[in-house]
Amino acid sequence: MSGAAGNVMHSPLVTVLLGDPRLPDRSKPGECFTPDDLDQVKRLKAALDTVQGYAYEYWDDHAQLLTRLQEEPPEFVLNFCDTGFRNEARHELHVTACLEMLGVPYSGSGPVALGICYDKALVRALADAQGVAVPREALLTPSAALPLLEFPVFIKPNRADGSVGITERSLASDDAQAAEYLTQLRATMPGADIIVQEFLAGTEYSVGLIGNPDAGFDLLPVLEVDYTALPAHLPRLLDYGSKTDPQSPYWTDVRFREARLEGNTLAGLHEACTVLFNRLGLRDYGRFDFRCDARGTPRLLEVNPNPAWCWDGKLAHMAGLRGESHGELLAHIVNAAHRRCFSGQ
Ligand SMILES: Nc1ncnc2c1ncn2[C@@H]1O[C@H](COP(=O)(O)OP(=O)(O)OP(=O)(O)O)[C@@H](O)[C@H]1O
Ligand SMILES: [Mg+2]
Repeated sequence: MSGAAGNVMHSPLVTVLLGDPRLPDRSKPGECFTPDDLDQVKRLKAALDTVQGYAYEYWDDHAQLLTRLQEEPPEFVLNFCDTGFRNEARHELHVTACLEMLGVPYSGSGPVALGICYDKALVRALADAQGVAVPREALLTPSAALPLLEFPVFIKPNRADGSVGITERSLASDDAQAAEYLTQLRATMPGADIIVQEFLAGTEYSVGLIGNPDAGFDLLPVLEVDYTALPAHLPRLLDYGSKTDPQSPYWTDVRFREARLEGNTLAGLHEACTVLFNRLGLRDYGRFDFRCDARGTPRLLEVNPNPAWCWDGKLAHMAGLRGESHGELLAHIVNAAHRRCFSGQ
């Protein structure tokens, strides 16, 4: 394209950072990228090709990442590296810390927000202090005994994503079941802190926000998890299989639909998410998961500052509910981040 003065105008180059398919990933079944993961990347590229106004390149070789960032610092990074540096989930924040140190503008939340949100108990405490409803819970260090509990409870790792460490047996109805799952989790995740939480048996919601406090937020339609097609004997929860195993009934039979919320419930969820977005220092977009208690009060499960970007993820479903394609969702995210980085909004 030529400008009025004959200068060649170029589209801003977006460097998309992704997980590294060459390296092991302990959070995935088989501890490596699955065919579905590779397909997700293909679909991401196809969707970004529809987002006008930018050119794209893709970096996923983590062995080269630090050198490459220093030698050819990108003009703008779309940080979709949700696996963490070298696919180590605890090192998700390190990627953003490097970008900060090198002065590379990037999309999404920074290292502090990513670090805080990887600690569910910490997010719960911060949310509670802001008046956001949270479940009752106990945080167990690796050697702590089970406290006195009011059953049923939900048992899960404090630091994990993608339902790692969550199975049907996370739901425990008595001391024996709770002790058994705690022992199993400690064997598979040595050294991990474990949350024992009030089981929230009600409706489950996900809320997506795109934007920033100064520029304002785009509130996506609220998603409700639809468990009605799930066989009745299975507990209602999004377990590891729901995100990784196409054969699992949790994958095949759990659906998402638009939540039908009363005005004040919707306003309450939006208010809670905006407060959390600001307090936790999120940027550009985020996803907030809630589940209702027996009285119908939505309580915060967790905050996702780097939520799944995939075509069939919750954010893409939310966009789909208002008739938008995956590409249109990605365009909102890229534009919000680019605007914040380059127009100071
Ligand atoms: N206290 C609870 N009561 C009832 N269900 C729960 C509770 N905690 C978690 N769950 C169920 O487990 C699922 C995963 O929990 P959570 O969001 O905390 O884990 P995660 O690994 O961070 O998941 P992701 O990042 O993929 O959303 C929830 O979507 C919900 O179905
Ligand atoms: Mg969740």
